[in-house]
Amino acid sequence: MKILEERIRREGQILSDTVLKVDSFLNHQVDTGLALQIGREFGRIFADEQITKVLTIEASGIQFAMAAGIALGVPFVYAKKKKAVTQAEEVYTAEVYSFTKRESYQVSISRRYLGPEDRVLIVDDFLATGAALVGLTDIVAESGAELAGVGCVIEKSFQEGRSLLEERGIRVHSLARIAAMSPGQVQFIDEESL
Ligand code: G4P
Ligand code: NA
Ligand code: NA
Repeated sequence: MKILEERIRREGQILSDTVLKVDSFLNHQVDTGLALQIGREFGRIFADEQITKVLTIEASGIQFAMAAGIALGVPFVYAKKKKAVTQAEEVYTAEVYSFTKRESYQVSISRRYLGPEDRVLIVDDFLATGAALVGLTDIVAESGAELAGVGCVIEKSFQEGRSLLEERGIRVHSLARIAAMSPGQVQFIDEESL
């Protein structure tokens, strides 16, 4: 998505070879017009998939799940995060290991809002190690719903998230794919040339 790549080039702050800050327009302050465009793009890509529900994790996936839900005309649900505790009967849970925080946490979704009748699109802001997203795919599997695919706003293609998901046979679409980055420089994978 060209407009997104340009914005990342212009406003993204590359803090190291692995961390990209996009706080000014994506995940702290949010450019609402851009978020809606992102949602429409996911809507276009997954238009033929009979999606019934969009799924994400709090916090910074929410605005894009909402935008995708608007575009597809379906509700979105966000998984809640908490420290690992014994779970109640009424939720699906998955364990996620956070590489940045070096600790595990649980994500959970009420059983009421996901079930075998659903076809799910998972949406998130970043595809990095894939840990959180794999947790969500586990929840979808447990619920009996069908997973139509995963849509990410920014993929750091030099990390292992995409291959973890593809190994599980999951269709992955990212709107901006970063091949490599270093302070002052971002190199995108050109979708057209693939
Ligand atoms: P993921 O690939 O499944 O997202 O999992 P990972 O454990 O690698 O990422 C941990 C958290 O860090 C995620 O946020 C992810 O969105 C975020 N993240 C990963 N790489 C970057 C990056 O380069 N820049 C920024 N800004 N964020 C990154 P989260 O735990 O879901 O937290 P939240 O911010 O959504 O609340
Ligand atoms: Na996130
Ligand atoms: Na995040």
